[in-house]
Amino acid sequence: MDEKKVLEELKHLFKIISYHDKLYYVDDNPSISDSEYDKLRQRNLELEKKYPHLILENSPSKKVGSNLSSKFSKIQHLVPMLSLGNVFTKLEVQEFIDKTKRFLNLKEKDKLEFIAEPKIDGLSATIIYENGKLKFGATRGDGKNGENITDNLRTINAIPKFLKGSFPENIEIRGEIFMSNSEFDKLNNSRIEQSLPIFSNPRNAAAGSVRQLDPEITLSRKLDFYAYGWGQMSSSIGNTLLDIRDNINSYGFKLNTPSKLCITVEDMIEFYDSLYEERPKLGYDIDGIVYKLNDISLYERLGNTDHSPRYAISHKFPAEKGVSVLKNVTFQVGRTGAITPVAELTPVTIGGVRISRASLHNKDEIDRLGIVVGDTVTVQRAGDVIPQILNYVESLRPKNTREIMFPEYCPTCNNKLIKDEDEAIIRCKNLNKCESQLKGQLIHFVSRNALNIDGLGEKQITELYNLGIINKPTDIFLITEHSSEKIREQIVSLPGWGELSLSNLIKSINISKRQSLDRVLYGLGIRHLGQGTSKLIVKNFSSVDNFLQKVHNLNDEQHKINFIEELKNINGVGEKAIYSLIEYFEKNKKEFFKLIKIIKIEDLESLQNNSFFSGKRIVFTGKFNTLSRNEIKNKAEKVGALISSQVSSKTDYLILGMDPGSKLNKAKEYSIKILDEKEFLNNFK
Ligand code: IVH
Repeated sequence: MDEKKVLEELKHLFKIISYHDKLYYVDDNPSISDSEYDKLRQRNLELEKKYPHLILENSPSKKVGSNLSSKFSKIQHLVPMLSLGNVFTKLEVQEFIDKTKRFLNLKEKDKLEFIAEPKIDGLSATIIYENGKLKFGATRGDGKNGENITDNLRTINAIPKFLKGSFPENIEIRGEIFMSNSEFDKLNNSRIEQSLPIFSNPRNAAAGSVRQLDPEITLSRKLDFYAYGWGQMSSSIGNTLLDIRDNINSYGFKLNTPSKLCITVEDMIEFYDSLYEERPKLGYDIDGIVYKLNDISLYERLGNTDHSPRYAISHKFPAEKGVSVLKNVTFQVGRTGAITPVAELTPVTIGGVRISRASLHNKDEIDRLGIVVGDTVTVQRAGDVIPQILNYVESLRPKNTREIMFPEYCPTCNNKLIKDEDEAIIRCKNLNKCESQLKGQLIHFVSRNALNIDGLGEKQITELYNLGIINKPTDIFLITEHSSEKIREQIVSLPGWGELSLSNLIKSINISKRQSLDRVLYGLGIRHLGQGTSKLIVKNFSSVDNFLQKVHNLNDEQHKINFIEELKNINGVGEKAIYSLIEYFEKNKKEFFKLIKIIKIEDLESLQNNSFFSGKRIVFTGKFNTLSRNEIKNKAEKVGALISSQVSSKTDYLILGMDPGSKLNKAKEYSIKILDEKEFLNNFK
């Protein structure tokens, strides 16, 4: 399609969507049905997906309170919906098996059974049944909260409304919603006939169909569902995955097929290779194979990492590649001042997705690739990862190329750029003045894993920043029902905003005022302080007040030393993070406490409060007989124990293995209670 025409259509869509938004949100008097309205938005999204470089500054897709997802109510997952770790090679599969065995304290020659099944490329959903009757259904969302899509799920034939056979009173079935290739073709053909935009791949088509407000549309899209797992259950439905699969099947669900019981890595690879071959004949898209342990009792023992369970891994099919031309390199300034070169490419479709940009990471990467502007390059896209440039084609290098010049001054604030010795990254260190960084920090602060403020994203933050309404995190909370007429007026008259979007925004800001400390810490954007580290730190303080007190006392040298020592003692928190945190608070204490006054920070509920070890500080030393060190730690963490790496006067228990180190003497010195492995494990019975 001619780009000029696309731009015209995008502008036209902006006008009519804004018009209907006003009728709907402001005048409460819509003139078209939800499904007609959704079609307009769908068209806008489709065009934007195909022509991302033409997205309008004030596109409806970026508007407060009107993206598809915010229309659904939220459902909290009682058992989090995790994702899977990925591997790409046989060696990595073998490493996964070895690691699992080590975790379970098994010998190399011991055998583990895995079930291999295809990994379907759709969207995951969870469905809750009470007394066999479908009650609720939800998307994965952020893993903790999903969107309530119950009405839409009811329209999918493969999802039973009533379970068959004998089933637990309460059961939650999880699986993948997808669209078969034939349905996808049918849908796109009919859309072409109606001059509607087509979906770029079956996964997008399935996702777009499920997240429709009008279940009639979902119904017309003929989606399918394969069950692969479960969430909450009132009673067990089997001790092995094979049994559970049979049971889920007997309730009326289809399963991810084919599947295979594997013992050796060779079994797994054979299955992987055969499905890779058969992939085109399956009739639906798969993007790899999932290997899961068959013995369910091991799931609990293995536990999870931050985002994925240790009992399973996904073995992805190779990434897809395409060829494009490097037109230019631009330089982005991130929220920490890191300058990232971005390759601007002639658009190329790889695996159904239009790519026009790729990350070049840093200067070293450009040097390593040896590319120049004008080069023909191979671009790789793997799953959701940002596209990468793999190499350039030497024979196609034109005569008039241009060297990639790394800027010496910040493209945003013109400050001299600096490269730290131990880093590959070049930075702008004008942290509190460089606009790109200030905006980036705000965008990070409101993002999903931080304060998660609905309806405030990059676009809205940029607009409010440009108006001078939001310059720092605390400013966000000054947008209230009581904001001055001038501020309200300024916001309401932004393109695409109205009274209703402002009032929705105020609502979500108010909701976000209740927060856990780890989210706030993470949201501050302190360098080296990721989500995991923030959580570890917060868990180690008996209360939020206790932590705040320590920050408050930082100007006292002795208190500062003690605070640093306490942080160093937390297992898994590195020195870089600690010194960065201290430096941050030394510089920003005043502003931080202003923020804390506005936000209501809640103490994390201690996991299983009644457990013997919950809230207790424990240190391990020596080797253990029955369980591996990792499994023992996992067990303790699950019941809310705080694991430290060093013995200090605050340690509650030293858990003693064989051949202990110097920690034993130190524990005796401090008269700390010492438990051997058996005594330790007895407290879990
Ligand atoms: S097991 C902890 N099995 O892949 C999650 N997932 O990348 C356990 N998926 O979110 C998932 N086919 O949406 C599992 N046979 C399969 C799957 C499968 C597709 C999806 C699922 C999950 C994602 C993880």
